[in-house]
Amino acid sequence: MNSVLKDPVGDDARFNLDAAFRDSHVADVIEKLEAELVGLAPVKTRIRDICSLLLVDTLRRQAGLSTEAPSLHMSFTGNPGTGKTTVALRMAEILHHLGYVRKGHMVAVTRDDLVGQYIGHTAPKTREVLKRAMGGVLFIDEAYYLYRPENERDYGQEAIEILLQEMENHRDDLVVILAGYEDRMDRFFRSNPGMSSRIAHHIAFPDYSSEELMAIAQLMLEQMQYMLSPDARSTLREYIERRQKQPHFANARSVRNALDRARLRQASRLFAKRTASLAKRDLMTIEAEDIRASRVFAEPAPVETQREGELQT
Ligand SMILES: Nc1ncnc2c1ncn2[C@@H]1O[C@H](COP(=O)(O)OP(=O)(O)O)[C@@H](O)[C@H]1O
Ligand SMILES: [Mg+2]
Repeated sequence: MNSVLKDPVGDDARFNLDAAFRDSHVADVIEKLEAELVGLAPVKTRIRDICSLLLVDTLRRQAGLSTEAPSLHMSFTGNPGTGKTTVALRMAEILHHLGYVRKGHMVAVTRDDLVGQYIGHTAPKTREVLKRAMGGVLFIDEAYYLYRPENERDYGQEAIEILLQEMENHRDDLVVILAGYEDRMDRFFRSNPGMSSRIAHHIAFPDYSSEELMAIAQLMLEQMQYMLSPDARSTLREYIERRQKQPHFANARSVRNALDRARLRQASRLFAKRTASLAKRDLMTIEAEDIRASRVFAEPAPVETQREGELQT
């Protein structure tokens, strides 16, 4: 028991969880998370639970109670565009506010950033990434690509071993978040029990419903100071419902991409009639035709050439 080394705290000492909460300013980050992310109720609940755990842990430390540094490594599973990267960024801020990492930045990597092509290249690459991530969050996207059992001498294994070691040795100053598709991540954990046992929090990101995707579009448009005409709104809904059924659908990312393309078409439409004077409202409004021109409306339903779902960034 290390508590004997500290000043003993009496059994009648009082602790103020609410004051600790307010001092941490973590509420600001949670508010931001609520405001910028539509839906994701189960994810938001898990994050609040983790905050509670860490705040209680802080008070326990003040009370001289046993406080082994809590394991905070996490896995975020879900399809592309479900908000994993965005939530990981907020998580880094939360951990920083609560004093669990020094800096609160996030370093996002994939296999290629960690694993070298030749013998002797992997360890320095992995260590360099770990050095950059220290004091913050290391986000490893599509983490299962680190493990390639079909290649007998795959250097990914070397990266995994270094990661495991550092996740243990620096658990008080580095949080690793492994992200990717749920089924592949499950398989990865089954084959890598060492990694599995170091992950304390598994958070699943569900696909969005079409209503949620509409709300996400609305939020994105507001942030960009654009708006939909009433016709454009119903066209976007139809677009989303069609797009959801097509290959490589990437949830909120597909919505963002669709809006980017609609903005391009709006600009071309305005430019084509550039001699006419424009109201501020014209510069802001996406019309139905700006969405309707998408090949998502072409029959038969084609495959988008852009493979949004392939790489999770
Ligand atoms: N619930 C949500 N509400 C609003 N925007 C979202 C939501 N989820 C994702 N986004 C947006 O969609 C895009 C893709 O999200 P991202 O976090 O990169 O997903 P993932 O990492 O799971 O692929 C980002 O622009 C993000 O801001
Ligand atoms: Mg991502």
